[in-house]
Amino acid sequence: MEIAQWTARVGHRHGGGAQRSSSTSRADRGDDGHNARSASTCDPVPRCQTPHVTSVVPDSVVVRPLAPACGAEISGVDLRTASADELAVVQRAIADHGVVVVRDQSLTPTEQVAVTARFGPVLRVPYIQHLAEHPDVIAVLKEADERNISTFGGTWHSDFSFLPEPPSLTLLHAVELPEVGGDTVWASQYAAYDTLSAAMQRLLDPLRAVQTGWPNGTRGPGPNAAVSRSVVMTRNDPSADVEVAHPIVRVHPVTGRKALFVNPVYTQRIEGMTDAESTPLLQFLFDHAVRAERCVRHRWRPGDLAIWDNRCLLHLAVNDYDGSRRLLHRTTVAGEAPIGPG
Ligand code: SIN
Repeated sequence: MEIAQWTARVGHRHGGGAQRSSSTSRADRGDDGHNARSASTCDPVPRCQTPHVTSVVPDSVVVRPLAPACGAEISGVDLRTASADELAVVQRAIADHGVVVVRDQSLTPTEQVAVTARFGPVLRVPYIQHLAEHPDVIAVLKEADERNISTFGGTWHSDFSFLPEPPSLTLLHAVELPEVGGDTVWASQYAAYDTLSAAMQRLLDPLRAVQTGWPNGTRGPGPNAAVSRSVVMTRNDPSADVEVAHPIVRVHPVTGRKALFVNPVYTQRIEGMTDAESTPLLQFLFDHAVRAERCVRHRWRPGDLAIWDNRCLLHLAVNDYDGSRRLLHRTTVAGEAPIGPG
């Protein structure tokens, strides 16, 4: 079921009484977001501003917020067999919290693709080598012997924001994890927009920024860059140099809320501005976007399935686990051309 459809269907359920509610640097140019060192129109009150109650709808599914700005943990559902009502709870939680971590999902790659398809059309992503038998799944892998290298997703980004129609959702399933470390952090771009001054919001609302997939293009990391060997990426492909202009402020097609939509990996400059104007303004936005209070940091457990919305979040893989192996499987849901407030 498409996201837009289910929003209409679940509508006001959380607030309507039909359901129970219990009380219970610009990137270092040697790096890129995928290889680096290191809710709603139907809901007038943004979820992140509501008190933290645990919702239980239907009975079995438990949604527990993880941080004020974004993030929730979900338990009591098997996404392979979830009913339409259970799936609607998960979809609603994604709209409310931006990212959810669904616990205890043991998915084969085939099952992960099937689960992904329950959230929308599966997107086969370009430029990254997929699993041999599963063209819709990529392995986010760093081997224990890969030390002092960049890692996939290690700089703040929104997945493939340089595509004309960037992916809406990403699903990341933990397979093998370090004992400690290898967390993922997400930052709410609703919060980033909402906390700008009204004057800055007015300036940004009509603007667009140019994005490219330069890490995969002719200006990407050279042959000597210390990048992970475990995620094989296309390099030097001129098609990735193509410039795509997207609104800096994106109106979320499901929630109707405004979110910042720039990131230090793919965003190059602000359309219509000189470099002297654009560079410092973008740098301000990159810093503002990921302040700690907009973030949730997730410590993975085997079987966790994170599902996040690239239209209202940035994310980052923390590269602090040299000497350990980390493997997650990633799938994506197709998105739409970003629309600005104008
Ligand atoms: C990614 O950017 O999709 C990877 C995130 C992670 O490995 O934690």
